[in-house]
Amino acid sequence: MRHMLLALTVTVLALPSAAQPPKAEAVESKGGVVVCVSPPAADVGLVVLKTGGNAVDAAVAVAFAMAVTWPEAGNVGGGGFMMVAPPGKEVRCIEYRETAPAAAKVDLFADGTVTPLDHKAAGVPGTVRGLALAHQKYGRLPWADVVRPAVKLAEDGFTVNAVLARGLNNVLADAKTTNAEFRRVYGRPNKEEWTAGEKLVLPDLAKTLRAIAEKGPDAFYTGDPADLLVKEMKAHGGLITKADLAAYKANDREPVRTTYRGFDVYGPPPPSAGGLCVAQVLGVLENYDLKKLGRWSPEANHLIIEAMKFTYADRARSLGDPDFVKIPQTFRDREYAKKIAARIDPKRATPSLKVAPDLVIDKESDSTTHFSVIDKDGMAVSNTYTLENSYGNRVVVPGAGYILNNEMTDFNPRPGWTTSAGQIGTKPNRIEPGRRMLSSQTPVVVLNDGKVVLVTGSPGGRTITNTVLCVLVNVLDFDMPLPDAVAAPRMHHQWLPDAVRFEGVKQHPELVAALKELGHTVAEARQGDAHSIAIDPKTGVRTGVADKRLDGKAAGE
Ligand code: DON
Repeated sequence: MRHMLLALTVTVLALPSAAQPPKAEAVESKGGVVVCVSPPAADVGLVVLKTGGNAVDAAVAVAFAMAVTWPEAGNVGGGGFMMVAPPGKEVRCIEYRETAPAAAKVDLFADGTVTPLDHKAAGVPGTVRGLALAHQKYGRLPWADVVRPAVKLAEDGFTVNAVLARGLNNVLADAKTTNAEFRRVYGRPNKEEWTAGEKLVLPDLAKTLRAIAEKGPDAFYTGDPADLLVKEMKAHGGLITKADLAAYKANDREPVRTTYRGFDVYGPPPPSAGGLCVAQVLGVLENYDLKKLGRWSPEANHLIIEAMKFTYADRARSLGDPDFVKIPQTFRDREYAKKIAARIDPKRATPSLKVAPDLVIDKESDSTTHFSVIDKDGMAVSNTYTLENSYGNRVVVPGAGYILNNEMTDFNPRPGWTTSAGQIGTKPNRIEPGRRMLSSQTPVVVLNDGKVVLVTGSPGGRTITNTVLCVLVNVLDFDMPLPDAVAAPRMHHQWLPDAVRFEGVKQHPELVAALKELGHTVAEARQGDAHSIAIDPKTGVRTGVADKRLDGKAAGE
């Protein structure tokens, strides 16, 4: 079935499912800390902090650097969400989600001829405007100073490590990677494989980044890089026009705030489902004493799974771009959460079709990336951004050197077509010109008494929110030290398919057997990549934790 192409998954995240989650790597500091998947980008962030930049300066520099050093998800051609928590001031969400071009039709993916690797799968990129908005609002260093490290990495080249080499070799080995410019830019001569230690130089991307550094974000949206993108779109039937690019705006939005066990948890609002789903699951879980039940008890895990299941059904029913769709208040309503708790049978899994018999949802794919930053003054940034699939639609814009997203596939693909095979056709997340597609990205910051105590987030498509929930429960309910909380096996239920994904099948066979007894279907799968920071409010010590499921570095001052 051609529609199955929408569930395309790629390369490096597909580690052997039998592998147990590796130990996380931690750094402690009383100064600034940067944690991200790409070691050279973490180094860039640390240098920015050491030379007088604040957390937003460092975050912007890391994001541009990862557009060079982590092509799987780091980007200028995609979009994302950045939570900013300045000390003593309100937490905000800089939202820079991609947008449907004006020419996008509601049935773009309906007949299956447009695939995720099509030029038409690209939404109008938001990253450059988003980073510029964050910098304009919070940055301390000149703009050029936070973009230039990325220019240098692209121009001089950087060393490819084993993880990046594997990711590149996988995507290049895939016959579906047909874009000649992608192969020219990221391939090795004579189809040789990449090996760790070799250098990757990206001169066209350096040119684009230099234009952004010197002329500001307008260079990307209205200058030469914009012309190059539009030329590429015209040559390949893509939808993005000069007018779409010129019209793109990032938003400074009020985050979703919820309380949990006395902590304040802040997540992104729609067009991400993340903040509201975190709020609702936590609202349900607060009705129980999870700690007393025990972290790996069947009782606690059954409740966590059921809370996820009910919440993902609500997400499918009603969430979309808030500029187009009225978002219900129920997600943050504790009375509504109590009603869900009352519907959860502690002795039996409720079949998904009974949770919401009217709706069925589709599954998502790789790859995104999350990073966390805190500066010496306590300003925290939690940023998740993405190209949607690994390497987006695997199209490099000729002359501009950057990879395009395929975020349009995050819209519901076929209007009115909701099937038990896993498609959703409901209205709130349908394609419409200028609309933002619903996201799962969930960068969060947690405050206690007004002070940041935790910064976390993850990639993983629809699993993202549940990865974040696992880390939150580990820390806030079970007081786990952050390295353990990040390394602990994660769980996911997204309502449909009616199945639990669990990383700890090998480590917790008794739990798995008990969950099956309760009526759950459990399958093993790895989940997420949560580069996080914890702050001890008593000592002020920051613990940066690199999730080693993939790669990563925690760099501290
Ligand atoms: O915004 C979203 O929810 C998706 N485009 C994220 C994709 C993703 O996380 C894939 N990563 N592993």
